[in-house]
Amino acid sequence: MPRTVLVVDDERDANDILASLVRPHGFEPIQVFSGAEALAEVARRHPDLILLDLSLPDIDGFELCDRLKRDRETNLIPIIMITAHHNAKERAAGVRVGANGYLIKPFTPEQLRQAMDEAITWHNEHQQHGTTGEINFDIRSELNYLAQASDMLADLFAHTPLTERHIKDLKQAVMEMGGNAIEWGHRKNADLVLRITYRINPNSVTLIIKDQGPGFDPRDLPHAACDEDPIRHLEIRNELGLREGGFGIMLARGLVDRFWYNESGNQVTMVKHFETQNSAES
Ligand SMILES: Nc1ncnc2c1ncn2[C@@H]1O[C@H](COP(=O)(O)OP(=O)(O)O)[C@@H](O)[C@H]1O
Ligand SMILES: [Mg+2]
Repeated sequence: MPRTVLVVDDERDANDILASLVRPHGFEPIQVFSGAEALAEVARRHPDLILLDLSLPDIDGFELCDRLKRDRETNLIPIIMITAHHNAKERAAGVRVGANGYLIKPFTPEQLRQAMDEAITWHNEHQQHGTTGEINFDIRSELNYLAQASDMLADLFAHTPLTERHIKDLKQAVMEMGGNAIEWGHRKNADLVLRITYRINPNSVTLIIKDQGPGFDPRDLPHAACDEDPIRHLEIRNELGLREGGFGIMLARGLVDRFWYNESGNQVTMVKHFETQNSAES
């Protein structure tokens, strides 16, 4: 069966060009010109990939992306959003469901091919690992939006074996780590976009919080609590003139089964297993 790409663009010429660009890569294009048609064809044909123009006559492209990503039937279909705005991805909105990739007009056929490759790779990796769902939220760096994204965790993880208690813990971990991203990573610049990923694996859930800040070295935190002596840092904070606190990382670490930062320290990954099993599954 040939792989299919749903091309969603209300401008006939642009739609045709996209269709002609995907054919050489072995994809059969399915061309639609509105959001309503897109939804119908997704349900009917279940395409391998969606190329979605942001401006449609009936539904906003962001809205369509949101609908498809929140639906468990369509969640794993990769979406590449095509936009005329240079800052569409980075543009600060309240809470927005993110696409898998973004292409900014005008783009080259090579950029399109690369975006498609990445999207298909994302899909294949998830399929291989048995991931049943993933959603990305791009949120404006404000605590009320962070709280909204944290609340949405409950809906998304509702069909997993996590207990209410686990969900509450995970929400708290998101608030702590998202709070750090806003306060320390983004220095409270509300326009910067924070990306939160929730993923459902066969035996666990994964939460990733990524900020656009410079990061930090988690091994060098004399002003934060550590397990051996959880209050020693308070004096140091006092000397440094820092606000009270320094317990966030220790707390979040204790609420999940696995917890690590990327090399630069601007992305934290947390994993919670469904049962108290010590399998290597993540
Ligand atoms: N995303 C981040 N970017 C930069 N620095 C961070 C980030 N997250 C945490 N930090 C650093 O780690 C320290 C400890 O964080 P935490 O344990 O939450 O305590 P607190 O936020 O109360 O200072 C912060 O004071 C900050 O120096
Ligand atoms: Mg903190």
